[in-house]
Amino acid sequence: LTVRAGSYADELVKTAKTIASPGRGILAMDESNATCGKRLASIGLENTEANRQAYRTLLVTVPGLGNYVSGAILFEETLYQSTVDGKRIVDVLVEQKVVPGIKVDKGLVPLAGSNDESWCQGLDGLASRSAAYYQQGARFAKWRTVVSIPNGPSALAVKEAAWGLARYAAISQENGLVPIVEPEILLDGEHGIERTFEVAQKVWAEVFYYLAENNVMFEGILLKPSMVTPGAECKDRATPEQVAEYTLKLLHRRIPPAVPGIMFLSGGQSEVEATLNLNAMNQSPTPWHVSFSYARALQNTCLKTWGGRPENVQAAQETLLIRAKANSLAQLGKYTG
Ligand code: 13P
Repeated sequence: LTVRAGSYADELVKTAKTIASPGRGILAMDESNATCGKRLASIGLENTEANRQAYRTLLVTVPGLGNYVSGAILFEETLYQSTVDGKRIVDVLVEQKVVPGIKVDKGLVPLAGSNDESWCQGLDGLASRSAAYYQQGARFAKWRTVVSIPNGPSALAVKEAAWGLARYAAISQENGLVPIVEPEILLDGEHGIERTFEVAQKVWAEVFYYLAENNVMFEGILLKPSMVTPGAECKDRATPEQVAEYTLKLLHRRIPPAVPGIMFLSGGQSEVEATLNLNAMNQSPTPWHVSFSYARALQNTCLKTWGGRPENVQAAQETLLIRAKANSLAQLGKYTG
C-alpha cells in the first residue's frame, strides 16, 4: 500500500470492504437541493427544507435497511440534518449498520473550449471540507462528473473528467474518506452499444492513468460506472445478457483486481431493468464485488407511493425495501423477478 493515503490507509481498506460486502449496495440519496426539488415537484410538493427532511427521514428509517444497503450517500444538508424526531441522520444510519457518505463535488458547469461539454467543480477547499465531513461521521465520498457521447466526447473533456476525479480521490483518501470514482457516461443519444463500449474504454483508461499518477491507493476506492448500454434513443435495445457481456468485458479490460467494489449507477434505467442487468452481471465470478449505487432505481416507486402524505410513509418504506432486497439478490446473482 502506498504511504500517500497516510494514517488512514487501514481504515480506508476496511470501509471499502464493509461497503462492498455480499448482498449489499449503496442507496444514493444525495440529490442536490435543486434535483431534490424536481423530485418533490413530481409529487406536488414544494422544495422546502421541511419537505426534504421528511423525505430523507422516511428513507433512512426504513426498518431492516441495513440488510441490503451498506452505504448511503448524503447531500451536505442531510449530513448535518436530523430526522423529524430530532435524531441525527448520521446516527440513524450507523444504528442501521449503513455507512454514511457525502457528495463532495460542486456540480457541473460548461467546459470552455469544448463541444458544449461539462466539467465538474469542487476541488477548491476540498481538503478542509473533507476533514469536516469526516468529523461529522462521513466515511466515504462521491464525485460525479459526466461524459457525453453525442457531444463528443472530446479528448479535452475526457482528460478533464479523469484528472478531476483523480485529484478528488487523492484528497479524499488523505482525509479518511473512501472516494467513489464516478465518471458517468450519459445514456443520451442514438448510438449503439459498441460506441458506448469504445467511449467507456477510453474514459476508464484515462481515469486509471491519472489515479495512479496521483498515488491513489486502489484498495481504498470504489467505482461508480455506467453500465455499457445502447444510447437511450437507439432503436436496437440490448438484453440484460448483452449489457452484462459488454460491461464485464469493459471491467475486465480496464479495472485492476485491487479495486474492491464496482457500484453501478442506474442512470435513468427503470427499477426492474437496473435489477435485471445487475443480476445478469453476477452470473459469473469476478475479482470485484459488483453491486448497485442507485438513486432513481431504488427511489422512484417509494417517492410516488409516499406522495408527501404521512399516512403513506410505511407503504413507501415497504416499496423501498422491496427494491433494496431485489438488488441484494441481484448482487448475489439470485434475482428471479
Ligand atoms: P441514478 O441511479 O439515479 O443514476 O443516480 C445515481 C447517482 O448517484 C448519480 O450520481
